[in-house]
Amino acid sequence: MAPYDVLVTGSSGHLGTALMLSLPTMGFTPVGIDILASDNTHHVGSIADRELVASILQNNPIRHVLHAATLHKPHVESHSKQDFVNTNISGTLVLLEEAAKKQVDSFVFFSTTSTFGAALSPKPGSPAAWIEESVVPIPKNIYGATKVAAEDMCFLVHKQTGMPVLVLRTSRFFPEQDDDEDRRTALADENLKVLELAYRRCDIEDIVRASVCAMAKAKDIGWGKYVISAPPPFANDPETLRKLDSNPKEVFQAVVPACENIFRDANWGYLARIDRVYDSSKFVRDLGWKPVYTFEKVVELIGQGKPWKSELTAKVGKRGYHEIIGWTCESSTMDEPVELPREVRRAFNSVRFARKKGLRNEYLEEKEVAFRKVINDWVADMLARNTYIMDLPDGARAAFRDVIDARNEKRPREEQSAKETEFCRKLNAWATETLMQQQR
Ligand SMILES: NC(=O)c1ccc[n+]([C@@H]2O[C@H](COP(=O)([O-])OP(=O)(O)OC[C@H]3O[C@@H](n4cnc5c(N)ncnc54)[C@H](O)[C@@H]3O)[C@@H](O)[C@H]2O)c1
Repeated sequence: MAPYDVLVTGSSGHLGTALMLSLPTMGFTPVGIDILASDNTHHVGSIADRELVASILQNNPIRHVLHAATLHKPHVESHSKQDFVNTNISGTLVLLEEAAKKQVDSFVFFSTTSTFGAALSPKPGSPAAWIEESVVPIPKNIYGATKVAAEDMCFLVHKQTGMPVLVLRTSRFFPEQDDDEDRRTALADENLKVLELAYRRCDIEDIVRASVCAMAKAKDIGWGKYVISAPPPFANDPETLRKLDSNPKEVFQAVVPACENIFRDANWGYLARIDRVYDSSKFVRDLGWKPVYTFEKVVELIGQGKPWKSELTAKVGKRGYHEIIGWTCESSTMDEPVELPREVRRAFNSVRFARKKGLRNEYLEEKEVAFRKVINDWVADMLARNTYIMDLPDGARAAFRDVIDARNEKRPREEQSAKETEFCRKLNAWATETLMQQQR
């Protein structure tokens, strides 16, 4: 294995996986860090763990940091504000400071168009908002607030150290269904996602292309903040923005006439209203980004009966947002064996009950989130106290024992990390399988 030259954070997540799979085909050798184990993650641990981050940067000839690790919108309900501060602000600061010591060629921070928050939602009856870099963010929740703070940390460290830092405020690329019930019920998922490519979505392969442009140009640019979204087919003029609020169908059919027949054949519709358009033309202009999956192109592909999503989208797939997450605790002494505690059993029974009764999706999801959080807290607590968990299947129990042994014997960090990865994998498989069994 060639020495690692790119550090990818959040390497078990959607974008992190896409980067880890793509970069080797472009001549890079990426190394991944995530609190969640996966095939693409070399170091299971937190970006807020300075010792770990410093050791990765010191022990490898890293030239670029692609920072995608985050807590984000799906975690607003399941994690505390402090958790968000720890990962999104403190974690980003640790990475920036350790990368600056090394003077890497580029530090790319993936932020989000969600930072614009309330600036994105003009009232019905008002023209759609045209969103580009000069719009001032008005964060709506802890996700937006911590991402804006992290962007400011990026600027500060760039200013003080000269490290080239680019912030990419990306629009949505998640493969899951829309989190807004009205939109979900109004249109089929594919219909919605294709429409979104015109104003608020980007294919993950195009985001990887944008990342590579950022890595190549960061040294020349020094500091920059960009909107990354599939370039809209609309013009930024008052008439278009007014019509997007009242009659998007007319605008879509005027700017991309082919969509009329194609939508009709697919039995697809249009949204009643579009409230914002993300404009990524600055990034296209300044960095030479060439996104492929634009609305026009996708309509053409559908017309030819070809897939309209990139192969990479399919390879990355749905990774979920509430897997069992890792831990940050250090070991102490070996304790008595324990069994599944009452709160874990209770949370688990709530999921089973919701499934049996065929209760509404959101309710079930809420129970599943609660269950995973309880398991997480419990495992983290057991690890912190070095407690041997009895009530796990054999493989996971043995893997857990290996983690404890590696810690107690103070084996090299990489070895401990490998044991933790293996344990997380077994634990995830166990929790997923147990939940699946209940579904059958
Ligand atoms: N998914 C979207 O549609 C979307 C939209 C706009 C912006 N973004 C941005 O793109 C980036 C990637 O998003 P994604 O959808 O791939 O997210 P994801 O949730 O799929 O992946 C994030 C990864 O970060 C890891 N992580 C969380 N806390 C960590 C910590 N303390 N240390 C190390 N790893 C940690 C998680 O385990 C996860 O694997 C994020 O910065 C996000 O803000 C995403």
